[in-house]
Amino acid sequence: AKEPVRVLVTGAAGQIGYALVPMIARGVMLGADQPVILHMLDIPPAAEALNGVKMELVDAAFPLLKGVVATTDVVEACTGVNVAVMVGGFPRKEGMERKDVMSKNVSIYKSQASALEQHAAPNCKVLVVANPANTNALILKEFAPSIPAKNITCLTRLDHNRALGQISEKLNVQVSDVKNVIIWGNHSSTQYPDVNHATVTTPSGEKPVRELVKDDAWLNGEFITTVQQRGAAIIKARKLSSALSAASAACDHIRDWVLGTPEGTWVSMGVYSDGSYNAPAGVIYSFPVTCKNGEWTIVQGLAIDEFSRKKLDSTGAELTEEKELAYSCLS
Ligand code: NAI
Repeated sequence: AKEPVRVLVTGAAGQIGYALVPMIARGVMLGADQPVILHMLDIPPAAEALNGVKMELVDAAFPLLKGVVATTDVVEACTGVNVAVMVGGFPRKEGMERKDVMSKNVSIYKSQASALEQHAAPNCKVLVVANPANTNALILKEFAPSIPAKNITCLTRLDHNRALGQISEKLNVQVSDVKNVIIWGNHSSTQYPDVNHATVTTPSGEKPVRELVKDDAWLNGEFITTVQQRGAAIIKARKLSSALSAASAACDHIRDWVLGTPEGTWVSMGVYSDGSYNAPAGVIYSFPVTCKNGEWTIVQGLAIDEFSRKKLDSTGAELTEEKELAYSCLS
């Protein structure tokens, strides 16, 4: 039998946490033959709710779940973890300035970086979900210098999956037949959902999305804004932010990272930029990646047209600006 993998979920008493932990305990993230031990962290005001989640995990009698640590102690939470999904953070409240939210999250991610660096298992893989996701991940990287930069990522898979969903609805095809969309840049409204290399598997072979949709105005307009603003549309409809789709995307992100992407398929991940595609280096930027043997690689050599170039640049500029704002909060 396989040794259990320890998976940390921070903010586990929150609504994404509530959707995410049962998925992990059912094997959705790491596979149906991989036992897991869940580490759940939240803050003291949420301790009672966190304990309620732990009670439900016991009640669900998940065969793969070999243990649960539910705690408000960040050291206990981080000790020995192989995968860390960082969902906890300070939400933007009405009337708060961007800088105030940034400042709260920068201090959370700075201290959690140290705890992970000192107590997580070697080679722990980190996925930051909490917003501002790219910049929280960057701060985590900066303050955990002994964790390799390649082990620190942020979630743009939800945006990627939203783009697949929109194409599948538009063309009335199965979402599993659509692939290779790209989310470039920041997990924010400046993200660029790009379909220029996306394809659909049809009875007569693989066809470019652009050829099938035959509506460039939609692809260059409404499609992009729908994906960019989908989070806000969900809040409007549900009066709560996306949780089940975010949790599912977090599982997809880790599963593909650990177990590999299928041949001929790439996915979007926020990773530490090396300046590929002339994105700013030294920020966490979402790129198309393939994964093999537990490591991601940015897909190289894709043609970028003028329309796309502008969009890659503007989301990159926003990330550079967020980085500066984050640093100004530290000093
Ligand atoms: P939520 O407010 O329901 O849950 C957040 C949880 O984090 C709460 O239980 C809170 O007590 C906890 N928390 C706060 N500070 C913490 C700390 N220092 N350590 C540990 N836990 C802490 O929020 P929800 O809906 O679960 O969303 C969580 C985050 O995910 C938000 O920042 C949201 O903006 C972000 N998000 C990101 C998405 C993405 O695609 N990257 C998609 C959807 C949400």
